[in-house]
Amino acid sequence: MAKRPTIVRAVPALRRAVAAYRDAGERIALVPTMGALHRGHLALVRQAHARARRVVVSIFVNPTQFAPHEDFDSYPRRFATDIAALSEAKVDLVWAPSAAVMYPQGFASRVEPGGPAKAGLEDKFRPHFFGGVATVVAKLLTQTAPDFALFGQKDYQQLRVVTQMAKDLDLPLKVIGVPTVRETDGLALSSRNVYLSAGERSVAPTLYRVLKAAAVRIKRGEAIARVLDVARIEIDLAGFTLDYLEARHALTLVPVASRKDEPIRLLVAAKIGKTRLIDNLAV
Ligand code: PAF
Repeated sequence: MAKRPTIVRAVPALRRAVAAYRDAGERIALVPTMGALHRGHLALVRQAHARARRVVVSIFVNPTQFAPHEDFDSYPRRFATDIAALSEAKVDLVWAPSAAVMYPQGFASRVEPGGPAKAGLEDKFRPHFFGGVATVVAKLLTQTAPDFALFGQKDYQQLRVVTQMAKDLDLPLKVIGVPTVRETDGLALSSRNVYLSAGERSVAPTLYRVLKAAAVRIKRGEAIARVLDVARIEIDLAGFTLDYLEARHALTLVPVASRKDEPIRLLVAAKIGKTRLIDNLAV
């Protein structure tokens, strides 16, 4: 039977475990998650193993990145199943603090990210989100003091925000973006896909299909604005309510006007029924 990772729920115990790894000269890779793990998370764990002797996974559904009307209460929580998957994946330690440990009585500080966090993408529709993410990720990174931290490219703006934050705060680690894992029909894996009805699930891969077609047309030299207009119509016609479909500079996330402004990333967010999906693709 696979060995269960050590499960740690308090900061002093975490510090002792991390110090023991350091004393043994072992490198540490952190995979921050909110649990409800899927193959995308396990791909992050595999990349973590490729870089470091010790792999730490955090499981914490972070209340500060959800607005009051969002799905914090219903967000899938499957701790026992997650631990079984992480045992198979040979994870050394699971950092699973409670909200009271992460945000104790009197907690009063916050990381307020700028730059890619103000790109007018996710931040426009979820204004609370990146402040909550940056604050909790800054805490996770100081708590676990890893050499590497791995994030999925699926949440592309989040990846750019935490990369910039780690740089700005001089955190001594490398942030690594890992390619999105997809279902065979192209749908990007997400813990929120469980919310999709059968009908919505069958329509959901449209987003990736439209992104792929748009990327091909932009690469061929067609005008970006025109390509995006057509793609937006296709997304609407498939039954989504589109929040945004944008072409942005892949590092700064500023708008791009032509192919010359590369590297370019296409980013999309749209609702199907009550479920909001996001995806992105390099041009
Ligand atoms: O991507 C996520 O699961 C979360 O936003 C993260 C990075 C674990 C912070 O809570």
